[in-house]
Amino acid sequence: MKFISIAFFLISCQNSDLSTTKKFIPNMYEESEMALFMRCIYEENSKMKKGIITGTPPNRFPSYFLNIFNSKLTNDKPYSENLITYSKVYIDNVRTLFDTVSPISLKTRYNNSINTCIACHTSECAGPIPSIKKLLIK
Ligand code: HEC
Repeated sequence: MKFISIAFFLISCQNSDLSTTKKFIPNMYEESEMALFMRCIYEENSKMKKGIITGTPPNRFPSYFLNIFNSKLTNDKPYSENLITYSKVYIDNVRTLFDTVSPISLKTRYNNSINTCIACHTSECAGPIPSIKKLLIK
């Protein structure tokens, strides 16, 4: 059983190349809640990136980001300690974007949050990393 679930997990990672999934045709039979959630936060971050670059940064924490803690994984894979830890760090980093008195530049805070996506993916699901890197502000 364990083997099967790992196989599914890998398949879902491989399918996640955004150039092929860009059109958002959710297939409820194959896509986990977490995969769909990830595509949403991808889009949201892409908007935030544009906003930061054009001087119209986001002004409110998107509370649905908290679904990172309770979206079902592919094949009902249980949340590992690792996943929970990275989720907390990620949410903390996103919250810093709305800290109006932070001495750290918004661009740096934003890139830190994207680097947390990448850090979690490095240990949990490496497939989407090349597309996630496109969210970084150069
Ligand atoms: C806490 C760990 C973690 C963080 C942080 C995280 N991800 Fe993910 N991501 C995952 C896991 C696990 C999956 C696989 C979900 C599944 O198979 O059910 C995934 C899947 C994805 C996918 C593939 C979705 C699909 O179509 O199959 C994309 C794209 C993605 N993440 C982008 C991002 C972006 C962008 C960020 C940051 C804004 C991010 N992730 C932050 C763990 C994380």
